[in-house]
Amino acid sequence: MKFEELTASVPSLRDELATKGLVTVRGVETVDDGQLLAFAESFSDAEPPDPKVLAWDFGTIMRMKYDPDAANYLFSNERVPLHWDGAFHREARYLLFFCDSSTGDGGDTVFVDTTAILRDASPEEVSRWEGVTLTYTTEKKAHYGGTFSTRVVRSHPFYPDRKILRFAEVVETKLNPVQLDIDGTDDPGFYAELEGRVLDPKYRALHSWLPGDVVIVDNHAFLHGRTPLGKNTGRSFRRIQIL
Ligand SMILES: [Fe+2]
Repeated sequence: MKFEELTASVPSLRDELATKGLVTVRGVETVDDGQLLAFAESFSDAEPPDPKVLAWDFGTIMRMKYDPDAANYLFSNERVPLHWDGAFHREARYLLFFCDSSTGDGGDTVFVDTTAILRDASPEEVSRWEGVTLTYTTEKKAHYGGTFSTRVVRSHPFYPDRKILRFAEVVETKLNPVQLDIDGTDDPGFYAELEGRVLDPKYRALHSWLPGDVVIVDNHAFLHGRTPLGKNTGRSFRRIQIL
């Protein structure tokens, strides 16, 4: 697909994102960073002087690629536990991925729809979860770090009638682990209960990457993670966090 065709479909992609929270387009011709950034910005409603995309010390486009000397697990070949982006700094509205290289054999991205989990949960479960606050802490070895706290159940910032679950898995790695403190419950089974819910295959969409894949996901409604890279160590994509 020509990139101009993709650009022309922004209104319908925006509609699809508003209803489903996840869109995938395959077979898109490669583009330069400037074109990709302009495409990403067309999904933001932010008005100047507010930025339309998040900028980090590496800029607005992150190149996700395997690094055998990685100090952080994101750039290793390990599984990446479920999380959402920007929690240590500023939560992005959408994440946009453009795949530049991949055999599709390993390193699938895992997307979990937390609005569906909450729709299916019983009122008793939701009211129990609503009383809990989670605090995550990690050392800054990549572009993020520090500490943040969140209620487990929140309203979607753009769709206040939708409830979202903000529960990231603990990161038990030698490469930049993330610790968790749980407040508001004495239940020793709380973590396992929530982990079981977000890992339930019923709520999971797996994306196996091929070059030219474009994926956009609602970062507030969904969690994401990654299966181990396996043989697919040449997998690389560009990621932009849209505000
Ligand atoms: Fe992420």
